[in-house]
Amino acid sequence: MALLLVLLFTLFASPSLVLSASTPPFTPQDNFLIDCGATNKATLPDGRAFKTEAESGQLLKAEDDNKASVDKADVPSPLYLSARIFKSDATYSFHMARPGWHWVRLHFYPVTNSVFDLQKATFNVLTDKYTLLHNFNINQNKNNNTKNQVFLKEYLLNITNQQFSIKFSPMKNSAAFINAIEVVSAPDNLITDTANNLQPTTQFQGMSKFGYETMYRVNMGGPLITSANDTLGRSWLPDDAYIKSKNMAKEVLVGTSTVKYPDGVTPQIAPPTVYATAVQMADAVVSGQNFNISWNFQATNAFGYLIRLHFCDIVSKSLGNLYFNVYINGNMAISDLDLSHTVNGLAIPYYKDIVVNSSLISDGLSVQIGPSRMDNSAPNAILNGLEVMKISNSVDSLDGEFGVDGKKEESGSSGARRGAVAAVGFGLMFGAFVGLGAMVYKWRKRPQDWQKRNSFSSWLLPVHAGDNSFMSSKNSMGSHKSNMYNSALGLGRYFTFQELQDATNNFDSSKIIGVGGFGNVYIAVIDDETTVAVKRGNPQSEQGITEFQTEIQMLSKLRHRHLVSLIGYCDENSEMILVYEYMSNGPFRDHLYGKNLAPLTWKQRLDICIGAARGLHYLHTGTAQGIIHRDVKTTNILLDDQFTAKVADFGLSKDATMGQNHVSTAVKGSFGYLDPEYFRRQQLTDKSDVYSFGVVLLEALCARPAINPALPREQVNLADWGMQWKRKDLLEKIMDPLLADSINPESMKKFGEAAEKCLAEHGVDRPTMGDVLWNLEYALQLQEAFTQGKADDDSTNSVAPPSTEAVASPAPTSAIVPPATAPTTASNSANRPAPIPEGDEGSAEAHTINDQSGTDIFAQFSNLNGR
Ligand SMILES: *[C@@H]1O[C@H](CO)[C@@H](O)[C@H](O)[C@H]1NC(C)=O
Ligand SMILES: *[C@@H]1O[C@H](CO)[C@@H](O)[C@H](O)[C@H]1NC(C)=O
Ligand SMILES: *[C@@H]1O[C@H](CO)[C@@H](O)[C@H](O)[C@H]1NC(C)=O
Ligand SMILES: *[C@@H]1O[C@H](CO)[C@@H](O)[C@H](O)[C@H]1NC(C)=O
Ligand SMILES: *[C@@H]1O[C@H](CO)[C@@H](O)[C@H](O)[C@H]1NC(C)=O
Repeated sequence: MALLLVLLFTLFASPSLVLSASTPPFTPQDNFLIDCGATNKATLPDGRAFKTEAESGQLLKAEDDNKASVDKADVPSPLYLSARIFKSDATYSFHMARPGWHWVRLHFYPVTNSVFDLQKATFNVLTDKYTLLHNFNINQNKNNNTKNQVFLKEYLLNITNQQFSIKFSPMKNSAAFINAIEVVSAPDNLITDTANNLQPTTQFQGMSKFGYETMYRVNMGGPLITSANDTLGRSWLPDDAYIKSKNMAKEVLVGTSTVKYPDGVTPQIAPPTVYATAVQMADAVVSGQNFNISWNFQATNAFGYLIRLHFCDIVSKSLGNLYFNVYINGNMAISDLDLSHTVNGLAIPYYKDIVVNSSLISDGLSVQIGPSRMDNSAPNAILNGLEVMKISNSVDSLDGEFGVDGKKEESGSSGARRGAVAAVGFGLMFGAFVGLGAMVYKWRKRPQDWQKRNSFSSWLLPVHAGDNSFMSSKNSMGSHKSNMYNSALGLGRYFTFQELQDATNNFDSSKIIGVGGFGNVYIAVIDDETTVAVKRGNPQSEQGITEFQTEIQMLSKLRHRHLVSLIGYCDENSEMILVYEYMSNGPFRDHLYGKNLAPLTWKQRLDICIGAARGLHYLHTGTAQGIIHRDVKTTNILLDDQFTAKVADFGLSKDATMGQNHVSTAVKGSFGYLDPEYFRRQQLTDKSDVYSFGVVLLEALCARPAINPALPREQVNLADWGMQWKRKDLLEKIMDPLLADSINPESMKKFGEAAEKCLAEHGVDRPTMGDVLWNLEYALQLQEAFTQGKADDDSTNSVAPPSTEAVASPAPTSAIVPPATAPTTASNSANRPAPIPEGDEGSAEAHTINDQSGTDIFAQFSNLNGR
């Protein structure tokens, strides 16, 4: 387990790139700049000096010696004032200092000359490996947007040999020409080996095996960025020529110093000028608006494309306000992008690489952004920059279907398909060890598939548990091996299916003590004496299996007096069975209402709430990474034979993931208990549990369900109803009448205050579980003193609070620990009880989920709207 967490942590800690923001400017080791046919040295505005014909002559092998130059022309750079013209094959050869990515830039302009009409020149350009241009003619390729005929072709090639050559090969009776050549080292991490495949949504590996041609490089909402302003001599065009319905979009601009590069993204990926401008939705943040902003680009279905999307949240005022989708050719490319969570801050650059298979292209490329959810209070979407790179095809061509050796591409094959490429499918991925599965899942699946990324386990565990090796004991190694494996992973005892079959009388229905989200819970006796609860998962339910695995993982690393212990599990024959300590008094809820059980005294209720609070406090703070329960409710607080409360059901639990203060996730949990902030923003914090716990407190006091659709509208939702009365300081009006005679009003007041704080609208205003615990302890002391005072007939209703320090600050942000009874944290793990308590007997761990009907959902909605 520790290994997995470390691994997961590493994933969070190390983004796809490794350069740090403080990296000095990139100095290319190979830096060939040639002004072909030039007699005078050309120095560009960006400071780069190109070599003259005389200085670069030894690089060229050509049969003829035709140069052309003009003194003046309507061209943007002196590079276009001269050219080299070849009537037969000619080759430039370069001796490379360093292998890896290189820019290859070819500058073309048909200089007027007496040798050949360059408007008519048709030729091929080939490197040792790649076809760069096939049957190229400057007029056929004329870009109607540029007023002159200057052409810059830019390629990004991984050069692996010391010798690199560029061959110009004119068609018969034609000529080839070139005005300037750049062969310049680019950073290794400019393109990493891994990207995301658009459709199907798999990981795409082998990016470094392709060659690329830059088709578009666009600075959304910003000005032209020339090579002078780019860290790697690139140009970025404004997006005006590509955006559809410009009136739907609004430009945003901040100072470049606002942009804060994180580890892993540097100005080499894109300069700050790209990230400091963006396009956002017109009338952004107007509630209820929902449309896409679209950009269109020309593309041919003869090639696959790499699309790099650049983002930087320069529009939000606070974290967690921007959620949007990115579509490419109508397919979801990035689902529910939450930038502030992804990079943990605002104005932090982030980029994403998407591979578009040629089969998805029929009419060019369309890139769209739009808000991800209608319930988002401030719908908006942004894009800062975009690069479109053509990917070389199966015969290493970037133009036409012929390779350097004249080999033709097989029909049906495309740039995105090749032996070297492994588009890893899920089946394959999860065949590997969990760690790899987790990594791939996080890389690929999590950002892509909103619906499925909703539990801790789906990041950490294989989704298809039945067909991989993780917990499989049905392999040839048998159960001895399994047990070793288990103890290594800390998974508890391994049970054979036979053992559990015997213990439950072949899962006899008379042994059923509970029906849970993914299967039945049976009572059973193991080792002839220990009563346990056996939870048998329904193998048909994938979701269930995921949650099941979460529970194994969670529970086996968590041992605490106030958490239900996992004893072991069985996964034989694709079974998913968990064996728990047996909680003979069942769910807290059954003792509050609905089951006609003997009513609990106020002290008992306080003890149970305190126990549950301790369990949650331990979850939040007692483990290195912190865990959010996500489904705190009275049916998930179970009572043992001593009425000791233990928190159960970690099926939805989630790591508070590694140094990030919230977890973005699909809304899960139970209506009536759901943190409104979590519901609105899909941001999970430990304060979401605190909210739910506030509902539990009201339930304990009022002895009624969190949601009761049968009641008049204003009473349906207990949290609302309770707070309404709390504000009037009349909580006793709705309190359980059975408590009326025995409760100390002061204790109830303190308790009500605790509930009110838990139910604060905003997470930041809610106390920590440690604070709640302190308040409950105080309420308990007040109650005990009251009871004693009554007994002694001595009514000094005042009680010293647990700690004077705490009185000064009643809602401390750090957990105040009442002196007598410290909430348990990891440090007192020595006090952990044995996993199997002795002498358990009686009823069961029984919890149902029937408190979530459709009407509940509407109640919760109306509740939210009312806020
Ligand atoms: C340029 O415009 C002409 C006529 O308007 C059109 O036929 C041609 O396809 C355009 N070329 C490009 C590269 O867009
Ligand atoms: C370039 O390709 C070689 C051979 O495929 C590979 O080993 C190397 O890692 C690649 N370089 C980069 C920067 O991707
Ligand atoms: C762009 O480059 C020019 C010339 O080097 C410089 O004056 C200008 O400040 C740069 N602009 C930005 C936004 O960096
Ligand atoms: C945005 O574009 C996607 C993909 O083309 C489409 O499915 C979605 O319905 C569009 N959203 C709106 C609001 O038009
Ligand atoms: C790309 O498209 C081709 C043709 O439709 C298909 O056969 C191939 O599997 C696709 N490649 C990937 C990586 O999806």
